[in-house]
Amino acid sequence: MDNFKYYNPTKLIFGKGQLDTLPKEVERYGKKVLLVYGGGSIKRNGIYDNVLEKLSEINAEVFELSGVEPNPRITTVRKGVEICKNEGIEFILAVGGGSTIDCTKAIAVGAKTDVDMWDIVTKKARAKDALPFGTILTIAATGSEMNAGSVITNWETNEKHGWNAIPYTFPKFSILDPEHTMSVPRDQTIYGIVDMMSHVLEHYFHQTPNTPIQDRFCEGILTTVIETAPKLLENLDSYEHRETILLAGTLALNNMLNMGYAGDWATHNLEHAVSAVHDIPHGGGLAILFPHWMRHVLDDENVHRFKQLAENVFHVDPSNKTDKQVALEGIDRLSEFWKSIGAPSRLADYDIDETSIELMAEKTVVSRPQFGNFKKLTKQDSIEIFKASL
Ligand code: NZQ
Ligand code: ZN
Repeated sequence: MDNFKYYNPTKLIFGKGQLDTLPKEVERYGKKVLLVYGGGSIKRNGIYDNVLEKLSEINAEVFELSGVEPNPRITTVRKGVEICKNEGIEFILAVGGGSTIDCTKAIAVGAKTDVDMWDIVTKKARAKDALPFGTILTIAATGSEMNAGSVITNWETNEKHGWNAIPYTFPKFSILDPEHTMSVPRDQTIYGIVDMMSHVLEHYFHQTPNTPIQDRFCEGILTTVIETAPKLLENLDSYEHRETILLAGTLALNNMLNMGYAGDWATHNLEHAVSAVHDIPHGGGLAILFPHWMRHVLDDENVHRFKQLAENVFHVDPSNKTDKQVALEGIDRLSEFWKSIGAPSRLADYDIDETSIELMAEKTVVSRPQFGNFKKLTKQDSIEIFKASL
């Protein structure tokens, strides 16, 4: 393992009825609240009314920013920043998924600076402060509810970048009630499952020796999600399975799994380039790209990592097979699993063809010429992986 410090100040409030804790959690930061949400799912499933009722218990003055897009845009961030500055907002409450939470993180930082937020997202300027914010998560997927990361898209330049500003972009608290995720439709449920599995896989592919505890954590989460996902998709109203998947999503990216090493993250970079150009769902893009990244980087030196995944998670029988055969069988099983739950498997599923490969590949190296830690990749690698994914 490498030396490490672990720091995560987000208070996780998990379980049925935990919305009751909201007034007390908000009150300590102020009563002028900006409520940030997406395209309206929280109005249809009743969460919006329940949140307003809870905020009324402390006589909060509530302002609203609605319409945060999936793959949230810098233009929406700027709208939120303006409201915070004009109204003297004291606390921001994100109610929704990763997009709403990521947008909120950017608004929180933007509210405390005169620098344009795109300069902070693209690391031209640094954040020095932020408004406090909390989240009420409504979909299991990104882990944004318990990490400091945020991903923002600039639709004018077709760029989508991950950024963070530790410690400012950690939520003060996140309320996770599995009931709040019951209304997530089938397709979004699938994307969330793929996303959380991809986060574990991004961690899992690293070159640091001696990480047995972390490996078992990763394998345990993957195994649990693989067991639970088909049952949940059979019965989307199952509280029990929603609960398991919800916790898995948070643990997959609260950086507990990668204590003592840095994961790979090349596939996320590839996917962000695809959705920056084509605005596709993040989890859908990952389901297509991850197996192709695996086949592209697999070689004689790193085969043991793929073999370990194949045997410990996908129960591939290694007898009478070379290490490479075991590794490839594991990759095939991952791909088959995602197909079996209804995830897309080709870029063509989103009507993406070879005409945009050059542009997407360009986007993968826009902030640095090489990416990925497990194996360094260049623009040429991006082209090859995208071609294989068509
Ligand atoms: O916008 P509304 O109407 O709320 O509908 C949303 C949206 O259409 C819907 N939804 C959410 N909760 C629901 C629901 N529909 C019915 N019932 C509910 N309870 O689901 C759709 C997708 O929501 P979104 O927030 O976009 O999904 P997700 O949580 O997957 O977030 C995706 C974004 O997060 C970024 C992705 O790149 C993408 O921009 N990521 C953020 C990360 C982070 N901050 O750590 C890491 C990830 O790797 C990822 O890159
Ligand atoms: Zn992701």
